[in-house]
Amino acid sequence: MKVHPSADPIPSRLAVPGPGELEVWWTPIDLGEEVLSRAATALDPISLAKAERMRRDADRRRSLLAHALLRQLLSAVTGTPPAELVLERRCAGCGATDHGRPYLSGGPSFGISHGGDVAAVVLGAPDASVAVDVEAVQLPERWDAVRRHAFSADEWDATAHDPGAGRTQLWARKEAVVKATGHGLSIELTRIAFAHAAWATSTEHEPVDHGPLVVDIAPGEPAAPAGPWAAADLDLADDHRAAVAWHGEPVATITTHLAAL
Ligand SMILES: CC(C)(COP(=O)(O)OP(=O)(O)OC[C@H]1O[C@@H](n2cnc3c(N)ncnc32)[C@H](O)[C@@H]1OP(=O)(O)O)[C@@H](O)C(=O)NCCC(=O)NCCS
Repeated sequence: MKVHPSADPIPSRLAVPGPGELEVWWTPIDLGEEVLSRAATALDPISLAKAERMRRDADRRRSLLAHALLRQLLSAVTGTPPAELVLERRCAGCGATDHGRPYLSGGPSFGISHGGDVAAVVLGAPDASVAVDVEAVQLPERWDAVRRHAFSADEWDATAHDPGAGRTQLWARKEAVVKATGHGLSIELTRIAFAHAAWATSTEHEPVDHGPLVVDIAPGEPAAPAGPWAAADLDLADDHRAAVAWHGEPVATITTHLAAL
């Protein structure tokens, strides 16, 4: 893990982000049980039971911390205590309300991700349809199973020099986009492309800051909501790659905070 000089406590009051403003908060999941117990008090009974049912300790930590972080942030925005916030879900793919993108009626747009050793939340303006995705850097062998479902031939060739971090970065960007539209993986990742081949210059060690990227979602079923869509890479933790995506022009102020929980 990268050593960060300081962590930011979650403020007691937060403004709803304005147009083009994205606030990313993240935490490593290897925190002490005392912190986890405190975090658990931010969850509603259903989310808490879901986290506690998870058999693998890493899954429990990821779920608990992502939802605690989310609820504490939404509480700072709305003034409602974290465990009392009523979050709903809706799947843009099939319309069901028992899975899919979570949302808070009348609240800011938000997205969550729990991947590898990291939990992350992004907040944006109410109509920004923001999403975040974090992935642990994958071994090149991972792609054997998903290559055809995830990458175009051009993308595959352009990332050949960096099959671990470079392909993981591209994967995180694509997942952030399908989460931003609310469809999840019901939109084939091969339909998502980015306006320039930024991944071609990333290296094993450091993601490159290319600024926001124009996203192209190819026509197909299910249809994606009309654009513009944009994405940007994040630099959170070592051995992880992360990205945000949103509805709007590829111009944004993205602020990243390591959360003190
Ligand atoms: C959403 C998805 C892209 C996430 O991938 P992932 O990298 O494994 O997981 P992440 O930790 O980054 O993200 C998970 C979070 O994304 C959110 N999420 C789930 N479905 C979502 C959707 N359709 N759109 C946006 N966000 C979604 C949830 O908050 C979820 O966390 P939670 O369940 O703890 O609340 C993928 O798992 C997926 O598409 N799942 C949907 C499968 C499904 O429901 N299929 C039926 C379609 S009809």
